[in-house]
Amino acid sequence: MKKLLTGFVAISVLVAGCQKKSSENLELEIKKGYLVYKNNCSMCHWETVTPEQIRNIRKMVKEGKRPPFSAPPMSEVSARVKKFYPTEEKFVAFVKDYITNPSKEKGVCLPMAYKIFGVMPPVGRNMSEDSKEAVAKWLYYRFNMSWEEFMKKYPH
Ligand code: HEC
Repeated sequence: MKKLLTGFVAISVLVAGCQKKSSENLELEIKKGYLVYKNNCSMCHWETVTPEQIRNIRKMVKEGKRPPFSAPPMSEVSARVKKFYPTEEKFVAFVKDYITNPSKEKGVCLPMAYKIFGVMPPVGRNMSEDSKEAVAKWLYYRFNMSWEEFMKKYPH
C-alpha cells in the first residue's frame, strides 16, 4: 500500500510538472508569435482599434478614402475566425493555411474586407512552420472577444 501510494505521488508530481511545462511553453510560443506578428503582419494589420477609430475609418471608407491600414485589425480577425473555427486546433490550422494559400473562397472575413483591401498576399510562404504556428497561437490567445461582442462594441 505504501509503495502504491509513493508511486501515485510520484506520478502526480510528474503530471503536474508536465502541465506546468506545457503552459510555460505555450506562453513562450505566444511571446514568439507576437514578434512574428510585429515583423510579418503589423505593416498591414493593426493589432487592435478603439471604437472611435472604427467610426472614423468607416466614415473615410464611405467617402471613398483609403483607411489608414491595409487589412482588418487583428482583434477583428481573431474574433471573426473564431466564429467559424472555434477550437484552438481548427483555428491554428486555418490561419496557417490561409496565410500560405489565401483566397476569397476560403476566407471568412466580411465581404466588405475583400472589397476595401483585396485578398491577402501569401506571406506565409516565406515563413517557417514554427513561426506560422506561433503567430496563429498568438492570434488565438491574444484576444478574447466573441464576434457578437466585437460587433456590439465596434458596429460597422
Ligand atoms: C500586405 C498586407 C498583409 C500582410 C503583410 C498580412 N495580411 Fe493578413 N490580411 C490582409 C488582408 C487585405 C486581409 C483581408 C482579406 C482576406 O481575408 O484575404 C487579411 C486577412 C487575414 C486573415 C483573415 C482570413 C479570412 O479571410 O478569413 C488572417 C487570419 C490573416 N490575415 C492573418 C495574417 C497574419 C498572421 C499575417 C502575418 C504573418 C498577415 N495576415 C499578414 C493583408 C495582409
